[in-house]
Amino acid sequence: MATDGVDRRIFAEELAVEAGELALSYREKDGLEVRAKGVLDWVTEADLATEQLIRRRISEAFPDDQFLGEEGGSDAPLVGTGHATWVVDPIDGTTCFVSRLPSWCVSIACVDGRGHPFLGVVRDPTGAETFSAQRGDGVTVNGQRVSVPAKGITDGLVGVGHPRNSPDQPTLSFLRGLFAVGGLFYNSGSAALALAYVAAGRLVGFYESDLRAWDALAGEVLIRESGGWSTRFMRDGSLTTSKPVLAANRGSTSALWDLAGDTLDGCEPPV
Ligand code: IPD
Ligand code: CA
Ligand code: CA
Repeated sequence: MATDGVDRRIFAEELAVEAGELALSYREKDGLEVRAKGVLDWVTEADLATEQLIRRRISEAFPDDQFLGEEGGSDAPLVGTGHATWVVDPIDGTTCFVSRLPSWCVSIACVDGRGHPFLGVVRDPTGAETFSAQRGDGVTVNGQRVSVPAKGITDGLVGVGHPRNSPDQPTLSFLRGLFAVGGLFYNSGSAALALAYVAAGRLVGFYESDLRAWDALAGEVLIRESGGWSTRFMRDGSLTTSKPVLAANRGSTSALWDLAGDTLDGCEPPV
């Protein structure tokens, strides 16, 4: 999908790299401004500046498109307008970013005018990796096409995130089920990066009981394009509600569905 000769995928990949460099430059700075939104929930001047940069670049390149960002929200109706919507988390994994841990990323997705996600780019600035997918075009990591082998639930680690301010029960029940079948979990502190790792075959799946569109959508496109299975974030037609997300390598889809399926209201089971 291109407008005025600008290819959205190349544009998003370049923008994610630029945005990641900006965020990194703040991390090196002494006295980073950090504000608490809640317990273990921070927003920094880097989150705000990075989102502003992304928003500005998108409105310059695609003036008719809509924008939804974690920090600034949106000022337009989002679904069913016939216009594409960019969905952006400028820094996913701010807790890691603030703690000087490497696991955070820039996440950029685009949803078409009918509400279908078609583009996902996740940039890990610390590891200098760009995970990219466009509907029908497969997945690349730093421009190299990846082919993901089928892996069962105990052939690797399962990413599990736990949302702040949400009930513990779904996460605990998922973990209990995972341990019962001999599996182990990995929590990177960045849902978007963990989803990119599933698409690249590094994790066999991912579960988090409550995520927002900017955490989940880029990863959903990446995973579907990798041949894996993911819940569809737009299953309720809304970009602004939060909901559970499950993603799986094609070799562990039914095993992970068995662990989490009953928390995934309104989801079509994998076929
Ligand atoms: C968070 C991260 C974390 C997940 C939380 C998200 P943020 O996003 O993705 O891994 O467990 O649910 O809110 O706040 O770092 O952008
Ligand atoms: Ca996030
Ligand atoms: Ca964020």
